[in-house]
Amino acid sequence: FEVEWDADAADKGGWSSFMAKEINEQPEAVENTVRGRVVDGLVDIPELSALGDDRLREIDRIIIIACGTASYAGQVGSYAIEQWARIPVEVQLSHEFRYRDPVLSDRTMVISVSQSGETMDTLMAVKYAIERGVTTVSVCNTQSATIPRESDAAVYTHAGPEVAVASTKAFTAQITALYLIGLHLGRVRGTLSAEASAEAVQQFAELPEKMREAVATHEQIAQLAHWMADTRSVLFLGRHVGYPIALEGALKLKEIAYIHAEGFAAGELKHGPIALIDHGQPVFVLVPSPRTAPLMHSKVVSNIQEIRARGARVIAIVEVGDTAVLPYADDVIRLPLADALFEPLLEVVPLQWFALELSTAKGLDVDQPRNLAKSVTVE
Ligand code: G6P
Repeated sequence: FEVEWDADAADKGGWSSFMAKEINEQPEAVENTVRGRVVDGLVDIPELSALGDDRLREIDRIIIIACGTASYAGQVGSYAIEQWARIPVEVQLSHEFRYRDPVLSDRTMVISVSQSGETMDTLMAVKYAIERGVTTVSVCNTQSATIPRESDAAVYTHAGPEVAVASTKAFTAQITALYLIGLHLGRVRGTLSAEASAEAVQQFAELPEKMREAVATHEQIAQLAHWMADTRSVLFLGRHVGYPIALEGALKLKEIAYIHAEGFAAGELKHGPIALIDHGQPVFVLVPSPRTAPLMHSKVVSNIQEIRARGARVIAIVEVGDTAVLPYADDVIRLPLADALFEPLLEVVPLQWFALELSTAKGLDVDQPRNLAKSVTVE
């Protein structure tokens, strides 16, 4: 009798792929990223405090630079930082940043977002920013990588090592870190009310459990992917913080299932993309909460009606209890209640599962997609 020992499977903790394991690890990734950064109910990031509160108060513009999935985390983060710290935030792809001759000053903060901390495009953009005397903050998942070492401050995500090429737990940890930066800046600058601060801290406390429920959509998503194994194109629609999640859902499908996919801002539909809608076209729609974002919710429900009338197959991602979409959706994926800014951290999870399951259904290597590298260290 021989016990079969598969070292590869052991590393994956019993999961079929590193990506599956890493999707599953997201509640802890987020929890560990928050840990130690909430003191007496207030967000306090020692690495930012070390820059000096006066310096943080003088910042009048933030530019987030990143590539790929990290850039979508940056886009999600930009909404929260603007809301809490009242500083204008823009997001630029690292490889575009330098070539536009950006307007920078000593009151600009550049926040780079990079899982590896070694992406050459992002490193070169950070070096460019340093040469121009701006304050540089690195959001990074890899201790002592080059980008955090070069930057004025490093705010590490504590997602643990990410092995799969397609980023999952680093993404949700990056959003978390950017939110914490927004809350820290809002506190120091006096733009964040005690009530808003307490509410955000409470949302973070509840998040790991809610993310576990989002992870538990796996079986439903696996069924859906099974039926859709022959799909050649998938569209994703989102509004506000759901927009970058639509982009991320599409990127995941391209990366590991090699399917044509595009994400759109829901409001942009009528300006072009609606022409793509044909009979049977699958469209994932990220539906904002009717409780916390009623106006956006009703707009997105109208978008669903418009695409459904043109034959789209609608897969709606909603908060539990939202029945408004039921008459128009072919599939409904329900997620726990969360404040509008925290919905992306839940919504992305079923989209990650969908890409993984379609990749698996097509017999592809989920962890090592063709033509891609985990970390791109050339410009
Ligand atoms: C590569 C990876 C992506 C990742 C991007 C940025 O393209 O395949 O998954 O999002 O690089 O990587 P970084 O390490 O800078 O977050």
